[in-house]
Amino acid sequence: MKITVVGAGAVGATCADNIARKELASELVLLDIKEGLAEGKAQDMMQTATLLGFDTKITGSTNDYAKTAGSSVVVITSGIPRKPGMTREDLIGTNAGIVKTVSENILKHSPDAIIIVISNPMDTMTYLALQATGLPKNRIIGMGGTLDSSRFKYQLSQHLECSPSDLNAVVIGGHGDTTMIPLIRHATWNSAPVTDFISAEKQDAIVKATMVGGATLTALIGTSAWYAPGQPEQHWWKLL
Ligand code: LAC
Repeated sequence: MKITVVGAGAVGATCADNIARKELASELVLLDIKEGLAEGKAQDMMQTATLLGFDTKITGSTNDYAKTAGSSVVVITSGIPRKPGMTREDLIGTNAGIVKTVSENILKHSPDAIIIVISNPMDTMTYLALQATGLPKNRIIGMGGTLDSSRFKYQLSQHLECSPSDLNAVVIGGHGDTTMIPLIRHATWNSAPVTDFISAEKQDAIVKATMVGGATLTALIGTSAWYAPGQPEQHWWKLL
């Protein structure tokens, strides 16, 4: 299977790195508009192949979409990240044009691709990609729910002093500081409701911390986070 990751910034590079480590693709193309950036990062990652023991072939491309042809999955990470104090919606003016152009170019060369959108504001960009491409909705996936659910499990695990992997918890709603809905009443720890172990006050705090999870990291790091946002969620690929 061939996968393309558009955008070789922190999120795109993290995503490509992990796709290769997990050998989710036999061929992986990293594309960016900045001259040489994708080629350089692709080479750097390829030089980890023998150290990590993967066989995915990674190549870089400076804005040449012909190299992405025949991709089964395309991950879009293009656009500018938010800075401390910005909302995701503040990025819309710049990122809308970028995501529209990228999704149209992708489709020209990979008409059967499933598109995963990470660019912010993620919900709006996912809908924009849907409109720009005219694809059926089950072929355009925004990754916010996956990211926010993972952050929710992290917040719960900190309180419960357990592994996040022992938890089941889901966030629905938008990928926004005020629109996320962490479903704490449905969250479980090895099948037991987490609410059995957490006071009502602490539950509120966990929900609030989850909702501003991205902003908290942006304030700490000085730019948008990338390890969790750039992670190819393991279950997606089983569906392909
Ligand atoms: C975040 C950005 C990617 O939540 O929206 O980290």
